[in-house]
Amino acid sequence: MQLVLTVNGTTYEVEARPTARLLDVLRDQLGLTGTKEGCAEGECGACTVIVDGRAVNSCVMLAVQARGKEILTVEGLARDGELDVLQRKFVEYGAVQCGFCTPGMLMSAKALLMRDPTPSEQDIRIALAGNLCRCTGYTAIVAAVKAASGQESTPQMALPGVPGELAAAAVTDPATLAVACETVESEAGRPLGAPCTPVDGGPTPAGEGSTTSGARSVSEGGE
Ligand code: FES
Ligand code: FES
Repeated sequence: MQLVLTVNGTTYEVEARPTARLLDVLRDQLGLTGTKEGCAEGECGACTVIVDGRAVNSCVMLAVQARGKEILTVEGLARDGELDVLQRKFVEYGAVQCGFCTPGMLMSAKALLMRDPTPSEQDIRIALAGNLCRCTGYTAIVAAVKAASGQESTPQMALPGVPGELAAAAVTDPATLAVACETVESEAGRPLGAPCTPVDGGPTPAGEGSTTSGARSVSEGGE
């Protein structure tokens, strides 16, 4: 069947089976692989996207259910080459380790801030309760979301072991980040993970090189 979906402000026409999950269409047909598949049964939150302002698990939502709705994926967070404040705070607060949970965390947090710009810490924890992280212990993630809402939040070191000034600069300057990573990797005697090693860069943001007018045809594939 033919579906018309609006994702990150761009309208797409896709051929998909009636039983196709939204997750499959996003990843396999639109190439938006920032959205991850973890458990595939609505338990881990790795596949979270925002549909009409609500965070949903795209692994348990049919693509056909998203017709006529506004879908926002992690690729749609950055605007005009600038990371969303949530993305910046995740980096700044060291809220990313392997990065697999990060897109889902960001989208659940984004949905929260869209409906409540200054949530309490408990509200943040409740909003992220459906997103599992096996790496960070959640503290830095909650702190990053709180900071993104403009509330006072205890800063975390993005790169433990790096002098504070250098770590702060590394957040926004790729060249400085490279120097910081080299310093820490040299001391550790091993390569580091994110943010020193990019984790699955994903596709080009859907908004880039495309317009919101006129639908783009995408053939069914990868199923
Ligand atoms: S992959 Fe969808 S909730 Fe785990
Ligand atoms: S950073 Fe690895 S699962 Fe969250």
